[in-house]
Amino acid sequence: MNLRSPAKINLGLNVLGRRDDGYHDLESIFIALDLYDDITIEPGPTLDVHCSPPVTNEITDNLVYRAADRYRTMIGREHEGAKITVTKRIPTGAGLGGGSSNAATLLRGLRELWGDHPKIMDLAASLGSDVPFFMNGPVAYVTGRGEHITPIDITLPWVVLLILPDIHISTVHAYSTLGITQRREPFGLDKLLSYVVEDHQILRDQFINDFERPIFTQHPVLSTIKTILVEQGAIYAAMSGSGSAMFGLFTDVDIATRAQAVFADHKTYICRPL
Ligand code: C5P
Repeated sequence: MNLRSPAKINLGLNVLGRRDDGYHDLESIFIALDLYDDITIEPGPTLDVHCSPPVTNEITDNLVYRAADRYRTMIGREHEGAKITVTKRIPTGAGLGGGSSNAATLLRGLRELWGDHPKIMDLAASLGSDVPFFMNGPVAYVTGRGEHITPIDITLPWVVLLILPDIHISTVHAYSTLGITQRREPFGLDKLLSYVVEDHQILRDQFINDFERPIFTQHPVLSTIKTILVEQGAIYAAMSGSGSAMFGLFTDVDIATRAQAVFADHKTYICRPL
């Protein structure tokens, strides 16, 4: 079985409050992109996972291994085997959800091969806050700590220019820098989304990533990238998740390609929303 595991960006990311379990409630629009890791599942006597390049020191720490191992236990087939190969293309630790996407894509594949289980979504959520989105996608309103997913049926006609600065940001650290003490109500980004294809000003005014303020203070180059993206014709530019990936949205692929050339010092990708 050959599977494609997409990246995501966040359009707006409102951190609404700290929860008793240490996580944060958030509100965001998640958008899957046509930038993929590849996952293949073949029959095998034991659970055997290869990831190239590796993303963890021990393969048993890889979310794909953990997803497969826990799913076979969940369905009562502890000794089920499979040879799983992950070929990474999505940069890791960048706020693009690559690891979460791999886990969700694998679970979707195993659901087909090994059969469904009513608690598969609980398993997805327990593997990581972004995993439930990738069980659904491609565009969704996401709330709670990431487990409440409302798919949105919308075509987003943009070209996405991703800029990958060589900066690794720990998600745990990013949340701690927010210093959240108050609780806020959701802003209603799901309602606003239907207007943004026509009205880019709403996009710029209302879709804010709360991580930008503290992370830009620590890494001013990210703020500079955002400014350059807008100067180069992006209708909107922001950081994805807790960073450090930055993205610009363009309405024209030629303008996006010219903008890409300005970022020759960074790894860049041009892609589209799914
Ligand atoms: O769920 P995940 O493993 O991706 O989360 C990593 C860390 O990010 C958590 O341990 C938590 O500190 C923080 N986090 C959070 N609120 C969320 C998602 C993540 O505080 N909604």
